[in-house]
Amino acid sequence: MCLFGRSALALCILFGVGLSHSQQDRFSNLLELLKLQVQIEKTGDFLRRDCPTLFQQTGVSRYLRSEPRVGQSPSYNGVTSEELALKISLASHTLEFLTQSYLRCTADQQINTNGTGCGMPTIENSSGVFQYNPANSRQSAWMRDSQPTNQSSANRVWFFRGFVRDNAVIMFDSVEAMKRNHSRETIRLPYNWAGTGHVVYRDSVYFQRALTKNIVKFDFKNRTAMIEASMRDVDGGNTCTYPWRGYTTTDFAVDEYGLWLVYGNISNNCNLVIAKINPDTLNVEKSWATTISSGSVGNTFMKCGVLYATNSYSELSNYIRYTYDTNTGKQESLPPNGIPFKPPGKYNTMLDYNPHDGLLYYADMIKGNLATFPIV
Ligand SMILES: *[C@@H]1O[C@H](CO)[C@@H](O)[C@H](O)[C@H]1NC(C)=O
Ligand SMILES: *[C@@H]1O[C@H](CO)[C@@H](O)[C@H](O)[C@H]1NC(C)=O
Ligand SMILES: *[C@@H]1O[C@H](CO)[C@@H](O)[C@H](O)[C@H]1NC(C)=O
Ligand SMILES: *[C@@H]1O[C@H](CO)[C@@H](O)[C@H](O)[C@H]1NC(C)=O
Ligand SMILES: *[C@@H]1O[C@H](CO)[C@@H](O)[C@H](O)[C@H]1NC(C)=O
Ligand SMILES: *[C@@H]1O[C@H](CO)[C@@H](O)[C@H](O)[C@H]1NC(C)=O
Repeated sequence: MCLFGRSALALCILFGVGLSHSQQDRFSNLLELLKLQVQIEKTGDFLRRDCPTLFQQTGVSRYLRSEPRVGQSPSYNGVTSEELALKISLASHTLEFLTQSYLRCTADQQINTNGTGCGMPTIENSSGVFQYNPANSRQSAWMRDSQPTNQSSANRVWFFRGFVRDNAVIMFDSVEAMKRNHSRETIRLPYNWAGTGHVVYRDSVYFQRALTKNIVKFDFKNRTAMIEASMRDVDGGNTCTYPWRGYTTTDFAVDEYGLWLVYGNISNNCNLVIAKINPDTLNVEKSWATTISSGSVGNTFMKCGVLYATNSYSELSNYIRYTYDTNTGKQESLPPNGIPFKPPGKYNTMLDYNPHDGLLYYADMIKGNLATFPIV
């Protein structure tokens, strides 16, 4: 902006922006765009090699044809800084999309691409149940990263044993390794967690700090980095819980739209609040107040911005009894034959949808059953 016209230049000087500064900005922006373009090309090559059908579908070749690389085309000379910022933003979205497509297509498990739509879901019969002994008689949670950043982090499994006196997260390289009880590492969080509502998202774990109103982000890559935020209406005790109690006062969720926190409002009879959370700052971007209380549902998960609540934690014949759609603000009660759900056991301690692999993750404590259910 500081390159054109005398009055604009005067403005720039007034605001302390020098010519060379803006030229430097432009240079580093071009460099950033070039980096993104190189990564897109590389990811595109992998996709072409390993997932040819998906490669056709993503339209990456079209993108690469329509956007010449920085330096390969003189057209970048005339690009304004606004256009450049837009190109960078588009390129980073394209890269994120390609990376997720690639991870999805090459994961070591059967990936359920049927569930990527946002219509009324069906919870299929379980695609895999196994008994994991450490979860037997201990209310536990397990999960994969909901938005992994590379293939090995996509395959990893994280196990959280217990619900209030524990802080040791056990990491396995794969489900197979977990079945053999062959862990890679145990990571101690700086605080005990509350309940079983944690999620692993982009190499970090989000959890409620036990016996406080605080939520915490802990970065597994950078084990000192941490953010902690106090949530005014979260219960720091054992009141606004799911019916089995266990300090389940908060339930993080990740869906196609990002990170959410579902919790019973301590100032409003434990009625569930759905809060959209910024994953970097833990700020609440927006929240929705429902009229159903945490004690009257079995558990919940989010998909496509819709909250799905099961009827019970202890029935073998379960179903989704309630939905709240944050897209429209509408809530609905569903009959037992609407979205049925057949758990393998009777004491469901956690339930979470993973948008990366399209599976619902489930744990119960009677036999230590762990299971996944494809959502289609
Ligand atoms: C996806 O849907 C198709 C057609 O309904 C079905 O044959 C296939 O098994 C489904 N895949 C998974 C992983 O559920
Ligand atoms: C799911 O399991 C029930 C029995 O538990 C069976 O009757 C039904 O056919 C199964 N559905 C599918 C799609 O496999
Ligand atoms: C994948 O990501 C994990 C977590 O960030 C990291 O520890 C690991 O080194 C990465 N692996 C590769 C092959 O990049
Ligand atoms: C699984 O591994 C953990 C930690 O290594 C150990 O404490 C536990 O006894 C093992 N459980 C079984 C059933 O082998
Ligand atoms: C890792 O933690 C250090 C110290 O808290 C911080 O300065 C740095 O920015 C962090 N890096 C990342 C990638 O979060
Ligand atoms: C919790 O309930 C109180 C009392 O009704 C209300 O003022 C507050 O806005 C609610 N919090 C949220 C996040 O909805």
